[in-house]
Amino acid sequence: HGTSKINDRGHLEIGGCDTVDLAERYGTPLYVMDEQLIRQRCREFVQAFRATGLRFQVAYASKAFCVMAMCRIVEEEGMSLDIVSDGELYTALEAGFPAERIHFHGNNKTPQELEMAVNAKIGCFVVDNFVEMHMLNAIAGEKRQKVNVLLRITPGVDAHTHEYISTGQTDSKFGFDLANGAAEQAVKEASELPNIELLGVHSHIGSQIFEVGGFRLAVDKVADFAVHIREQLGLTFPVINLGGGFGIRYIDGDSPLPVAEYVNSIAEAIQTKFGQNGYPLPEIWTEPGRSIVGDAGTTLYTIGTYKDIPGVRKYVAVDGGMTDNPRPALYEAQYEAMLANRACEANEEVVSIAGKCCESGDMLIWDVSLPQARTGDLLAVACTGAYNYAMSSNYNRIRRPAVVFVKDGEADIVVKRESFEHLLGNDVVPERMRKVT
Ligand code: LLP
Repeated sequence: HGTSKINDRGHLEIGGCDTVDLAERYGTPLYVMDEQLIRQRCREFVQAFRATGLRFQVAYASKAFCVMAMCRIVEEEGMSLDIVSDGELYTALEAGFPAERIHFHGNNKTPQELEMAVNAKIGCFVVDNFVEMHMLNAIAGEKRQKVNVLLRITPGVDAHTHEYISTGQTDSKFGFDLANGAAEQAVKEASELPNIELLGVHSHIGSQIFEVGGFRLAVDKVADFAVHIREQLGLTFPVINLGGGFGIRYIDGDSPLPVAEYVNSIAEAIQTKFGQNGYPLPEIWTEPGRSIVGDAGTTLYTIGTYKDIPGVRKYVAVDGGMTDNPRPALYEAQYEAMLANRACEANEEVVSIAGKCCESGDMLIWDVSLPQARTGDLLAVACTGAYNYAMSSNYNRIRRPAVVFVKDGEADIVVKRESFEHLLGNDVVPERMRKVT
C-alpha cells in the first residue's frame, strides 16, 4: 500500500527508497514513514468533508505520533491539531504550528498546562470536568482573555473494535455524563462563566472502529442533547466535535472503511438529525490520529538470534521489541511482517518474532509466515506509524530508534536515534556516592 513496492533488487522499497539502503545508512531498528501516504490520508479527510458542504475542521490527534516534522505536515495540509499535554503543545509551537488551530484535550490538565495554553492563545480547550472548567475560567480571567471551549460529554456509546452498543455507561474517567445530568449542568455553568466562550460539545467513542453505526449513534445522542439544551436554555452550539477512532488495516482480517465512507455517514447523520429539528447545521470537527499515520509507518529490524523448539515453535529475535512497539504486549495487537531484503522469496516457515527485552511478554508477532530467516536479514513490520514511536520507552535502557520520512527517493531524519548521552542526560549521582578516582 501507499508507495511501498518490491523493487528490481527484490527489496522492499518505500517512498522510492530501498529499505536495505535505509537500514545501512541509518541503522536498525528504524521507523520509516511514507510521507506521501500521510499527506494522502490528510487529504482524504479534508476532501471528503469539503464534498459534504458542511463547515468542518479536521484536527490530527497528535498523540498518535507527535514530532515537529509531523506538525509541519499537518499545518501544510491545512488541518488543525489536537494535543493532550504541555509536551505536545510545546512540540507544536516550536514547529511553528498556528496556535489558533490547536485544540487541547485531557482529563487532568494542570494549572501550568492551562496557563501555557492560554498564554499561547490556542484555538480551543476541550473541557473535561467541573474542576477544570472553573480553573480555566479563572486563569483566562487573570489574563483578561476569553477562551473557546467545547465540553467533552460521555455519550454512552461503546464502539470498541467490532461492535457498537448504546451502553448508557457512566463509568468513564472522561467527560460529563449525558445520562446523569452532568452534561446539562456543565453547559449551564459554562454559559454563565465570563471568560469562557462555549462553542459546543465533544464526544469520542473509541479507537480502531470499523463501522459507522457507533458514529451515527453518537451523532443521534449529541444532536438530541443539543436540541434539548436549546429548548431548556435557549443556547445553540455552533460546533460539534465527534472525536477520532477511524480504523485501519493492520492484518488481513481487519476491514476498515474508506475514509470517505466514515465522513459521509457522519455528515449524513448530522444533516438528518439537526435538519429534522430545524437546528442550524453546526460546524463538524473530527480528530483522526491512527488513520492519518498508522499505515504510513514501517519498522525495520535486523534479525539476530533464533531458536527452534522442534514441534513447538521457532523464535526469531530482532534488535527492537516492546520498547519501540508496546502495542502487542499491551493490547495483543497484531501485525504483519516480511523480509525486506528477500521480498521476492516464497514463505517457507511460520515463526514468532521476539523482541530483545528481558521479559517473556516481549513478543512482536506470534506466528508469521516468512522465508527461512537468517541472522542479518531485515524484517519489516507494517502499520507501525501510530502509537509506536509515541508510546516507545527506554525500558532496559534501550535507546529509541530514529524516525525517517521517505518521499520521492529522498529520506530525511525527523527524529535522531537516541544516544548513550541521551540516556544519561537526566541522571544525577549524588555527591556522596561519587566515585573518587
Ligand atoms: N480524540 C480523542 C479525544 C481521543 O481520546 C483519541 C484517542 C483520538 C481523538 C484519536 O483516536 P484515533 O483516531 O487515533 O483512534 N494507544 C492506543 C490508542 C489510544 C487512543 C486514545 N485516544 C493504541 O495504541 O491502540
